[in-house]
Amino acid sequence: MIGVSRIIVALDSERGDKLSLWLNLVDSLCGRVAGFKFGLPFLLQYGLDGLRASRLLCDNMFIADLKLADIAPIMVNTVSLISDYIDAIIAHGFTGFRGGLDRLKEYLDSISVKLIVVASMSHPGSMDVIDPSLDRIMDVILKVNPWGLVAPATRPEIISMLRSRGLKYKILSPGIGVQGAKPGDGLRSGADYEIIGRFITRAPNPIEVVDSINLEHSMILEGKN
Ligand code: XMP
Repeated sequence: MIGVSRIIVALDSERGDKLSLWLNLVDSLCGRVAGFKFGLPFLLQYGLDGLRASRLLCDNMFIADLKLADIAPIMVNTVSLISDYIDAIIAHGFTGFRGGLDRLKEYLDSISVKLIVVASMSHPGSMDVIDPSLDRIMDVILKVNPWGLVAPATRPEIISMLRSRGLKYKILSPGIGVQGAKPGDGLRSGADYEIIGRFITRAPNPIEVVDSINLEHSMILEGKN
């Protein structure tokens, strides 16, 4: 029996894609996934109209992946422009607490939008600067107290380490499919959700892929895999 889905589909359009392609995807996957993450390509290509049109089709968790890393007033101003259509936004942890994530979190709490903070990234370059600073980023995260963290399925030991600290934050793990991790790698290491983009959105039959990942996830969660 398949329970609640742990898939968040990353919607990153490519230049020239028609909005209808993405709206059809949102419509067809809405009942099968936990939510959708709207990347900058989608937001720049289709603007708030694209987001609004998606919202009309689906009431799942919508995450704006703005990867905010600015001073607080600019982050607050940015979020205020999009907050009507989303449930959560992603910001970078390295931005720091004072004058950055502190006031962003206060603002998001006041409008009931969730904050998701990037702890570590899925690409190899994350090991240059971000990962060596992970302890300090975690200090920031503990002060900010976000709803969720992003940690990479491509380096599952980071997810396990974060989970072993007994933190209550949701862990969202990208890096599945095209970036090399396999569906289930994030959940098996302790993540709550897997963020999956092209592996689903560019598949000939996205519904089939989603159904098979949901099945795999439910087996992991039931301890059978
Ligand atoms: P693919 O197509 O590779 O897309 O499955 C992955 C999606 O996840 C985003 N991404 C990240 N977001 N921290 C984040 O906050 C990360 O480490 C990270 N790695 C990938 C990427 O923007 C795309 O939407």
